[in-house]
Amino acid sequence: MAIIYDEVNKIFNLQTENSSYIMGVVYDKYLVHIHYGKKLNYTANVSDMLGFSVNRGGSISPFDYGNEGLGNICLDTLPQEYATYGSDLREPAFHAEYSDGTSYTKLLYKGYRIYKGKESIKGLPAVYTEEGDKAESIEIELYDELKKLTVMLTYTVLPEFDAISRRVTVINNSDCDIKLKKVMSTAIDFNNDKYNMTTLNGSWARERHIERVPLHKGVQGVDSKRGASGHRHNPFIMLSGLDATEDYGEAYGFSLVYSGNFEATAEVEYNNATRVLMGINSFDFSWLLAPGEAFYSPEAVMVYSSTGIGEMSRNYHKMYRTRLCRGKYRDSVRPVLINVWEAVYFTCNEEKILAIAEKAKDVGIELLVLDDGWFGKRDSDNCSLGDWVVYKEKLPSGIDGLAKKINDIGLKFGLWFEPEMISPDSDLYRAHPDWCIHIKGRGRGLGRQQLILDFSRDEVCDYIIDAVAKVLSSASISYVKWDMNRNMSEIGNEVLTADRQRELPHRYMLGLYRVLEALTSRFPDVLFEGCAGGGGRFDPGMLYYFPQIWASDDSDAIERLYIQEGTALVYPVSTAGAHVSAVPNHQVGRTTPLHTRGNVAMTGQFGYELDLTKLSEDELNVIKNQVETYKAFGTKITDAALYRLKSPFCGNVAAWEFLSDEKDFAAVMVANKLGIPSAPNEFIKLKNLVPDAEYRERTTGKVYRGEFLETVGIAYAPSRDFNSVMFVFDKN
Ligand code: DGJ
Repeated sequence: MAIIYDEVNKIFNLQTENSSYIMGVVYDKYLVHIHYGKKLNYTANVSDMLGFSVNRGGSISPFDYGNEGLGNICLDTLPQEYATYGSDLREPAFHAEYSDGTSYTKLLYKGYRIYKGKESIKGLPAVYTEEGDKAESIEIELYDELKKLTVMLTYTVLPEFDAISRRVTVINNSDCDIKLKKVMSTAIDFNNDKYNMTTLNGSWARERHIERVPLHKGVQGVDSKRGASGHRHNPFIMLSGLDATEDYGEAYGFSLVYSGNFEATAEVEYNNATRVLMGINSFDFSWLLAPGEAFYSPEAVMVYSSTGIGEMSRNYHKMYRTRLCRGKYRDSVRPVLINVWEAVYFTCNEEKILAIAEKAKDVGIELLVLDDGWFGKRDSDNCSLGDWVVYKEKLPSGIDGLAKKINDIGLKFGLWFEPEMISPDSDLYRAHPDWCIHIKGRGRGLGRQQLILDFSRDEVCDYIIDAVAKVLSSASISYVKWDMNRNMSEIGNEVLTADRQRELPHRYMLGLYRVLEALTSRFPDVLFEGCAGGGGRFDPGMLYYFPQIWASDDSDAIERLYIQEGTALVYPVSTAGAHVSAVPNHQVGRTTPLHTRGNVAMTGQFGYELDLTKLSEDELNVIKNQVETYKAFGTKITDAALYRLKSPFCGNVAAWEFLSDEKDFAAVMVANKLGIPSAPNEFIKLKNLVPDAEYRERTTGKVYRGEFLETVGIAYAPSRDFNSVMFVFDKN
């Protein structure tokens, strides 16, 4: 049983294989948080823990003191499971405005329901379960009697991943409108502040760099107000013990299955208590809940590890790869692809593409992706988004004819779209100038010369579903790159009433998810790859629809060490698109060796992004070799357990081990930044092998015992700039 209810003490114990999440009901009214961390089987009486709420120095008088017989209880210090603003003056999990203008909500415990498995969330992506999984869920109902408001907290325990997912449903049972202003998906009151907070931050071409700082008093965290999860911050935070390492100590991951505006904060109080909140960004958000209506929050997925940060990552990887990603490509080997964007930019034409395709076929590549520039009159980024019809002057055989020619060469064919956007210079805009997000009477700010189609409107979503479906059914298309290249500004439309304008960004996400569900289920054989100016929307929400996402527009092998390590803190290696591109690199101008570009790209969803017709025979041979090597791995790297042996954030060398579940295959990618004269050896110690088994390294044929590789390691001398080696071990 994953969820145990102790009826005598009114304690809920949600147990994964190695963790417990414990809540209790005190005074028959308040749902309090007791423990999240190492597994506990014995649950003491929760009143022992209430001492926590006594010394409230400086706080307001106890809310219920005297007239409800609650003694020393004080909401301002009580570790509440789902706090509202009013008597508790910390950052609330929930905030709403009522028809009388007040905004205080008093949520008291009402009841619970435990059930097997996991229910889906209306219109939102979420982790799912399958027949045979040990998952159990619990709904705990909190109720405001005066305002007739139900707040349902739903938890699902996914024991095998040491994960607990949380979400919230708000139901208006009154006969008045209620304006929701903040509905967090998860909220936890930790009883101390001895943690580091890790966030994934960056910018375009520099996404998801790891930053780790100790918690301090006050509110700290990350957010997005961009209408997308964004390049700047990722909807993920981790709290880890001050002494935690990859293999030691506690780590708590919080990951939001959502692709729009989010916030993730930790507030440390005067008494060192720490409240973590994560959900849709409450800034500029409101949602009018009419009588009888329900609002569904996105899901937050928490993973706890008592054996270090690495284990937390591996659990996220396994869960997101197998219980968030869906469809045909979840479990099957994906084709090695070549994307022609950096080869031709906007100058694609049939002749160039076919020439690249011929070379690609020769080196064993399996799929060619035609990127931006194939539609409307698209010769630059200043027109045609929305006009999803082929640019005949460039591609006289049409998409159908081109796809056929590519297929005849022996490759599959893939196509780029940016369906959420509209160019002011497009037939679509001329026909529907009101279909973009805009505020009447104000200018329409351009980002990359484009506006955003208003996916909060059903007719716009329906139009795009039809337009994309028409192209996909017109030709032999096996892959779609779904791009999105600007963030929201001047948010508004002329359709929503004044009191609903702030719903637009969330309605947009619901519209987008509907479009993605429609297209991915209508074209189940198509491999969809997400993209947002590189990795500007690399989040679990997108992974529900796209099993892979282009990790960054920066394909420089050295920058990718940071990006791919940061990405893999939470996201599986199988989800991160990684390509070998030309040198000097188009983003940073760096020249790295081809083998290093290959080795680094092989630690993601492998592909190419360069003009093969411009390479020498020698280079083509190296590439042929790389493709063969990668194909020989199959999914052994992308689906393996990842061990971070050396971090590029901590030194000159990065080393990652990819170990099969059976421990019979281990690949170790080692790469260095700068070369060091007379370089001392770095010893790369592998992890979690079978100690007394023999492992044969594929290139050298040398045989090592597992315990030797773990305790002494393999020597690597970082003597040349940007060098790397991929060691591959097979268990004898
Ligand atoms: C941004 C993407 O990240 C690139 O890979 C490329 O598809 C361009 N857009 C095309 O405009």
